[in-house]
Amino acid sequence: MKKEMRKNILQLRQAMNENEVALKSEIICRHIVRLDLYKEAKTIMAYLPFRNEVDCSDLFSQIWKEGKRLVVPVCESKTISLIPSLLNRMEDTQPGTWVILEPKPECLYPLDAGEIDIVIVPGVAFDPQGNRLGYGGGYYDRFLPRLTSGTPKIAVAFQLQIINSLTPDKFDQPMDMVITEENLYQCPKS
Ligand SMILES: Nc1ncnc2c1ncn2[C@@H]1O[C@H](COP(=O)(O)OP(=O)(O)OP(=O)(O)O)[C@@H](O)[C@H]1O
Ligand SMILES: [Mg+2]
Repeated sequence: MKKEMRKNILQLRQAMNENEVALKSEIICRHIVRLDLYKEAKTIMAYLPFRNEVDCSDLFSQIWKEGKRLVVPVCESKTISLIPSLLNRMEDTQPGTWVILEPKPECLYPLDAGEIDIVIVPGVAFDPQGNRLGYGGGYYDRFLPRLTSGTPKIAVAFQLQIINSLTPDKFDQPMDMVITEENLYQCPKS
């Protein structure tokens, strides 16, 4: 059951301390920036972390340092949609929907989903085949099909969020790769 699994894994992840989250997040970011997919990308979508998600701060700094473009999602609950917006610095953010940080209204630079070269996807649980369990809103499942077809979807998670096998539902969007502090899972093309 999705609901039960979400609860269990979120509980495990919540039990990690700040230090552990920071150290493992650093390792995961290092894995990302070494990928050719990352090196070739000019516009990278990631996310601002909440509730002990993998913290992509090191990736953000690298993106800005290299003059690439960082895109983050802005959650619009009315339409169950994610609006991709450029983000140029952390100072341009403030708490938004569900207190997740988002660009301030005056710093919102929406762009077309088709402009994104790779997407770093958060989630509650993943399996090595690239199946994803999210928070239950269907936000990413609605957003990901708007990307140019073939845009790499790279999931990031801590190893404790990896499950042997998840059964996908009709709308669930598969990942191309799942990266943890211990493994890089290359997912079979479905
Ligand atoms: N493209 C879509 N069109 C219509 N309904 C959808 C679509 N994608 C998902 N849904 C519906 O949204 C609900 C939530 O989906 P699901 O349980 O897969 O969320 P999730 O993947 O955990 O969430 P999220 O993507 O926000 O992290 C389900 O009822 C699902 O059928
Ligand atoms: Mg889903």
